[in-house]
Amino acid sequence: MRLRLLLAALAVVAAGEAMAQVVNHDLPVQAIMATGVNPGALAFWAGGNDPPEGETPAQAEARWAEALKGAQTLQVKGRELMQHSRPGRWNEFAQMLVDGAAAGEAAAKARDAGKAFEIGGGPIYDACNGCHKTYIPSPKRLP
Ligand code: HEC
Repeated sequence: MRLRLLLAALAVVAAGEAMAQVVNHDLPVQAIMATGVNPGALAFWAGGNDPPEGETPAQAEARWAEALKGAQTLQVKGRELMQHSRPGRWNEFAQMLVDGAAAGEAAAKARDAGKAFEIGGGPIYDACNGCHKTYIPSPKRLP
């Protein structure tokens, strides 16, 4: 069942790849995504997904520690995104990321995979997806 979240994560990453086609990159925002938001989200999502097969308790602990750091990074980066605000719903999506990640931090501290799954596939994913859909032009299709 947690596979759904993994698939959602892959969809976001795939959307990121499609963005390679964006011609006029917003370089600061692109850097925030590539070095902060995306790795932070992947680390957090790993907390909510099913553990890898044969994971030792020490590995589980390391995975949760990364998920926790990821949730903290997402809050910092969400606030940074507001310093690059755009007209429309930009700040709303950035705030959704901050609030979702704050709840995610609590779930990661509690090692609550169910909650982490819910938050990762809910507000955090909705923030990524909502902002991308609103602000990134879809690649032109050839006739
Ligand atoms: C407030 C708006 C906003 C939010 C929230 C947001 N993004 Fe982005 N993201 C953008 C914009 C705008 C770009 C395109 C930047 C450019 O290249 O001009 C982008 C680009 C990306 C890229 C491509 C970066 C590259 O190297 O070209 C990835 C990957 C990405 N986002 C992942 C995510 C993930 C994962 C989340 C949620 C956890 C997320 N984003 C949340 C606005 C947002």
